[in-house]
Parts: sequence; C-alpha cells; structure tokens
Amino acid sequence: MLMERVEGSTKLLVPARATKSLFYNPGMELCRDIDIAVIAALAPRMVYLDALAGTGVRGIRVANEVGLPVVLNDRSKEAYEVIKHNIELNGIEAEIFNEDANILMHRHRYDIVDIDPFGSPVPFLDSVARSANRLILVTATDTAPLCGAHTSGLRRYAARALNTEYHKEMATRILLGRVTRDMCRYDRAIEPLLCYSKSHFVRVIARVDRGAKRADECMRRLGFIIHCFACGNRFAVHELLGIDERCAICGGRLATAGPLYLAPIKDDSFCSKVLDVLRAREMGKKREAMKIVGTCMGELDIPFYYEYHNICKTLRISPPPFQYLIDALRASGYKASRTHFSDTGFKTDAGIEAIKSLLEYMHR
Ligand SMILES: C[S@@+](CC[C@H](N)C(=O)[O-])C[C@H]1O[C@@H](n2cnc3c(N)ncnc32)[C@H](O)[C@@H]1O
Ligand SMILES: [Zn+2]
Repeated sequence: MLMERVEGSTKLLVPARATKSLFYNPGMELCRDIDIAVIAALAPRMVYLDALAGTGVRGIRVANEVGLPVVLNDRSKEAYEVIKHNIELNGIEAEIFNEDANILMHRHRYDIVDIDPFGSPVPFLDSVARSANRLILVTATDTAPLCGAHTSGLRRYAARALNTEYHKEMATRILLGRVTRDMCRYDRAIEPLLCYSKSHFVRVIARVDRGAKRADECMRRLGFIIHCFACGNRFAVHELLGIDERCAICGGRLATAGPLYLAPIKDDSFCSKVLDVLRAREMGKKREAMKIVGTCMGELDIPFYYEYHNICKTLRISPPPFQYLIDALRASGYKASRTHFSDTGFKTDAGIEAIKSLLEYMHR
C-alpha cells in the first residue's frame, strides 16, 4: 500500500511498509536533511546521481529543494514506477533509469554520486570511483562488520575492526579507508567534508580530487589504531614496524585495527556553511541535523574517543558532570571536545593515564 508524505518541501508517494522491491525508511529523513544542506552549501551547478533511489526521495529532494539536475536509478521495476510518479508529483524534470547501478556508473560520469544501499556499499565502490567527478555520498548500514562485531569485516573491507568503546568512529574510518583504496586505484583522492555515524548507519560525504600525487597523499593518511583492552590505552600509527606487542602502560597484549583512515573526517569551514543552510531552512529533522553538524564541527581531529562512564566504572567512582571533565582537561593544558558519535564520549590529546588521574583527582 502506498501513502503520501512530505519531506523538506518535497511531496512523495512512499510504501506504508517497505518491501524488497520498494524501500523507504522514514528514520533516514535526518540523513537526507543533512544531505540537502550539504549539497546546497556546495553551490555550483552539478549533476547528481541517486544510483539506488528506492522511491526517489533523495534525488527528487535534491532537484526540488536545491535545484540541481538529477538522474535517478533503481533496478526494481516497482521502485522505477514510483520514482516516475514522484517526479510528476513535484513537477520537476529528471532522467530516470531502471538498471543495475554498477552498469550505469560504468557507462556514465556524474559530478555527484550518491549510493544508499541495503547494508554494505562495497559492491558499488569500484563503480563509484570511476563515475564520481566531484563529490561522493555513501551510506553503510552493515555496522556489525564495520564495528568489529562480525568476522565478515575483514573480507568485505579488507581491514580489521576491533569492538572497542569507540566502535562507531572505527566503523566510519574503516569505511573511509576502504573508499580511499577504491578511489586511489583510479588516481583519485578524497577530502572528507562531513562523515558521521548515527544509530544504525554511517554516512561518508567527501570531495573527489584527481591526480596521482593527490592519490598518493591520500593513501598516506591510512594507518592503524593500536588498542589495549586491559587498561584502555590507545594510539594511532601509520606504520606497524617497531610497535611493541605489549602495552607500555600496563604490559597487556596490544590489538591492532586497520588499515583505516586517520586524517580529519570533516572540514570545519564546510560544516559551518552547512549549518548556515540548515539554520535558514525548514526541515523535519532540522534540530537533530544541526546538533550533529555543529558537534562534528567542534570535534578534535583525533581518530578515536573515550567513554567517560566506562573509565569511571573501572575506577569505581561516580561520574562527575560531563562538562566538568572537559573543562578540567582543558584547564590542565590538554585539548578536549565532545563527539557526535556518543553523548558520553569525549576526544582529547591526554593519554589514558592522565585522564584517569584527572578523574580520580576530581573525585576527591
Ligand atoms: C536502501 S534502498 C534505497 C533507499 C533510498 N535511497 C531512500 O533514501 O529511501 C536500496 C535500493 O537499491 C536498489 N538496488 C539494490 N541493488 C541494486 C543494483 N545493483 N542496482 C540498482 N538498484 C539496486 C533496491 O531496489 C532499493 O530500492
Ligand atoms: Zn594497557
């Protein structure tokens, strides 16, 4: 059964319940609101491909709310028919295909390529790397392998994920690492503009740059995170050679995650433009979207975070108000920020020992 719905300023016919041949998830409106603001913040006129369009909601919103020329594709016949209907409903023009997305992307180049698959985007990344000229938007909902909770991560992402307290960030960076390697094969590089994770999904939004030199530079941003499950010590390295097997703090055995992307995963000045767009528009998930983008903007560019409840638990102390901890770290000369990945997570350049002694001191 189909029903009418409005997202942003776009009218849509969507299935009352998603099926295999016609998919729509109202829970992803937040993701789509952020996309609209991102694409609007980019300004220039570019052609946008919604390669796995479902009801066409993403592409139709981009055409209707940003005014870009759009191309929509879905291999499901039922989805294709609904896309046609939704295009008419909004009185926009769009090119539509009813094809396998990989074949379409091998045949044509687009400025912006958006893939929003069921589960893992990996089967599409090679074609995305060939097809996308300026910008990519990639969703992953297979968070278990990306977070180290499932062994398929290694074969799908060619990287080892660890199930740590900062698994959401690990998922985002493992996906970015995989995207980097797929792009670099075609002498293309990525510059992440806004990459985030919310509930069950990871979204990567990155500019595409061309040239062997850029691609080499991009590859050098890959590395590893070394983690001690015994004491919570963690650090990032670009090379594994010379790393001790044992933790320098507690002597525990160290574990390795990666290869993953270690460089910044958002561009602060771009995020500020996206916030301006969100502020100026009416959208269903405006407040949540502003919270995510605003928090991303203020995050330290450190590739992991700490969960302060966990640390307090191991120290057997009751957690102080969160902001006190951030303030205390800063007052001690460290950098500290919140993270959008978790309401009780924080980023800092202080090591685990310094964090623990500060928390113990605050408890006294
Ligand atoms: C998660 S849904 C897309 C949801 C939509 N983007 C949204 O925001 O509501 C994934 C879509 O990809 C389509 N699909 C799956 N594999 C495909 C392929 N190889 N080529 C084209 N479409 C495909 C499915 O029919 C489905 O509509
Ligand atoms: Zn340790």
